[in-house]
Amino acid sequence: MEPKADIALIGLAVMGQNLILNMNDHGFTVVAYNRTTSKVDDFVNNEAKGTKVIGAHSLAEMVALLKRPRRVMLMVKAGKAVDEFIEQLLGVLEPGDIIIDGGNSLFEDTIRRTKYVESKGLLYIGTGVSGGEEGARRGPSIMPGGSPAAWEHVKPIFQAISAKVGENVPCCDWVGEGGAGHYVKMTHNGIEYGDMQLTCEAYHLMKDGLGMTPDEMHEVFKEWNTGELDSYLVEITRDILAKKDDDGTPLVDKILDTAGQKGTGKWTVISSQDMGIPITLIAEAVYSRCVSAMKDQRVQAAKVFKPKNPKFSGDRKQWVNDIRQALYASKIISYTQGYMLMRAAAKQYGWNLNNGGIALMWRGGCIIRSAFLGDIKKAFDKKPNLDNLLLDPFFKKAIKGCARSWRKVVATAVKKGIPVPAFSTALAFFDGIRSERLPANLLQAQRDYFGAHTYERVDKPRGEFFHTNWTGTGGRVASSTYTV
Ligand code: 6PG
Repeated sequence: MEPKADIALIGLAVMGQNLILNMNDHGFTVVAYNRTTSKVDDFVNNEAKGTKVIGAHSLAEMVALLKRPRRVMLMVKAGKAVDEFIEQLLGVLEPGDIIIDGGNSLFEDTIRRTKYVESKGLLYIGTGVSGGEEGARRGPSIMPGGSPAAWEHVKPIFQAISAKVGENVPCCDWVGEGGAGHYVKMTHNGIEYGDMQLTCEAYHLMKDGLGMTPDEMHEVFKEWNTGELDSYLVEITRDILAKKDDDGTPLVDKILDTAGQKGTGKWTVISSQDMGIPITLIAEAVYSRCVSAMKDQRVQAAKVFKPKNPKFSGDRKQWVNDIRQALYASKIISYTQGYMLMRAAAKQYGWNLNNGGIALMWRGGCIIRSAFLGDIKKAFDKKPNLDNLLLDPFFKKAIKGCARSWRKVVATAVKKGIPVPAFSTALAFFDGIRSERLPANLLQAQRDYFGAHTYERVDKPRGEFFHTNWTGTGGRVASSTYTV
């Protein structure tokens, strides 16, 4: 029998199943396979009933059904399972075939796997897929990277099933070689952590500072979602705040305040440290989840240090407006930092990342999708190599317009003892990046004082290093000068 299937997908958990059904909707014939094969029958006889989806009970059977070059997509847990499947697939596939990993894999693993699979004569793609269950089914944002030669073979499928914006523009394009796709997806997730933390801080300020009920805050988020904060995360926050438990009380109040995390935010921060890029807002968002997880310690400390009166005085409507502006300004800082990180990574790993293209891929389908990303896209369209988003005229004006409210909100929250780590680190970064002179002159003096680490001088050319014998008792030898 002539092989007739366009692509195979391994891993029938929620994302895998929904991607298969999405591909089927777009006219592709998909082979479904799962390590526990009873899941294959279950899927084919239920969710995929009446579709063209074909179930396979072994990798050999799966491969025999595929047209050449064979395309096999893994939607399995990141880590060991991906390596194990790659090894098995190398035994049944042939040179020129393509292995695709659509999980949240660490980009360094994807760099390694691309090299390894290419060394066997096959092609590899590591792709970010964002949008959760609904996105996978109706149109996710897809961020593929890996072997460039594989792109033309997966492009028709990926672009067909992805979300679309504007005049049917797909939220999927080639990101770059090796681990570029997974790097961009990781950064997306870091920014997702930041956006979530920012909305949580706005909620906290309204709840504790203004004493607002979930129903009242639902109205606020509803209004925010019609303006510059229009986004998926604001939209779901609006709906969450309106949701009632079986007893008719707000469900959000019943949810334990300890956040989980699967690691992509942490990876973003680790990479930023390696790259020397201050993505302070994402870092605070990750640490805020860690603080939230210390429930027992917090309960004990709250008994000792409880803030007396966190209530803000003044016009509530004005405060809500100030909080919105603080959120917007902080969000601009977060995306500025995220783009700085991707820029540094592109340089380090030799990727030719298209900033505007990334904004477009994130414009629809993914968790951070928003009107705001449309403005970022416009900024990069005007200046593709824009160093710093803050310097774009649109964002410059936006930040200036928000500055007063932003400072007022952070200062009042600090006075009242309501934690706003993301709002305040954003402001601290802003004040740092716009300082022509920082106190690091003193820091360099300290380093040179205790360790002869040398310093540069304002009255000498950059790159010339000096050492002072600060105490008169040190030696003449300075330590070597390097920056990690
Ligand atoms: C997406 C999401 C997704 C992520 C979850 C859970 O783009 O669809 O980013 O990939 O896995 O949001 O992440 P945490 O458990 O780390 O919050």
